[in-house]
Amino acid sequence: MAANNRDYEFDVEVDPEDLPTELEHTDLGAPSVIVKDLHVTYHVVGSRAKQAQGSGKPNILAKILSKGKSVTGGRTQIKAVRGVSFVARHGESIGLIGTNGSGKSTLLKAIAGLLQPSAGEIYVSGTPSLLGVSAVLMPDLTGERNVMIGGLALGLPKAEIEAKFDEIADFAGIGDAIYLPMNTYSAGMGARLRFAISTVSTPDVLMIDEALATGDASFREKSRIRIDKIRKEAGTVFVVSHSLASIKAMCSRVIWLDKGVVRMDGDPETVTEAYREFTKKL
Ligand SMILES: Nc1ncnc2c1ncn2[C@@H]1O[C@H](COP(=O)(O)OP(=O)(O)O)[C@@H](O)[C@H]1O
Ligand SMILES: [Mg+2]
Repeated sequence: MAANNRDYEFDVEVDPEDLPTELEHTDLGAPSVIVKDLHVTYHVVGSRAKQAQGSGKPNILAKILSKGKSVTGGRTQIKAVRGVSFVARHGESIGLIGTNGSGKSTLLKAIAGLLQPSAGEIYVSGTPSLLGVSAVLMPDLTGERNVMIGGLALGLPKAEIEAKFDEIADFAGIGDAIYLPMNTYSAGMGARLRFAISTVSTPDVLMIDEALATGDASFREKSRIRIDKIRKEAGTVFVVSHSLASIKAMCSRVIWLDKGVVRMDGDPETVTEAYREFTKKL
């Protein structure tokens, strides 16, 4: 797994004024991702486990400290995803929302095959790509070399990657930095290049996991258009973003995760509104 989670976070923020009136209707195809009663549990050994264990006997304080995490013998189990089920179809762009720690990234990593479920089942048609290529890219190599590595990882023939190099570099918009090692890039530049590589061919299932509020308005708009194109070409896109405006602009459906369970699953307007109400009370 990638050394640093943040490496593949990418925020697709959209200014409310950029919002299109409505997503074009696309007929939904066959299921692309089926998740059935999925559970993912992390096993952690560490200071938090020891602290929560406290005086040894399970007591109220230990319970409070461990907040839903069960502590056994210096190990903490964190049940990040607890019985999630849904069916995603070709042509859907699904927004995942929920407060920090609600299990969004864990769910995407499990779908991408980067984390083993502790129970339940996941079926994916085609190759899922979690902002595709992050895991295979090599920070000490140039952007140019990484375009090749990432493209190969996505299953593109070498000649096709070479043919598309200019398009990828243009889309990323990082100029001559493409010829510098990726570890010299700012987080935003890295995120743009990864996005450009991952979306160069239409992936069956593309997952974009939030965060860095980087990229200017024009890059965000280009990204939105590209995501919409993937959806229209019958791919399935999962988008995690803290920006409800982005989610509404890009998604045909929204799943709200709360403490590892699906709290609501439905049309973007209804689900984001309910979530907004919920977060007001926090
Ligand atoms: N690598 C990990 N090891 C242990 N616990 C983790 C790890 N990654 C996430 N968690 C925990 O799992 C829960 C869900 O996290 P995450 O899936 O990252 O949520 P989100 O993406 O919604 O913020 C949180 O309690 C988080 O602390
Ligand atoms: Mg996350």
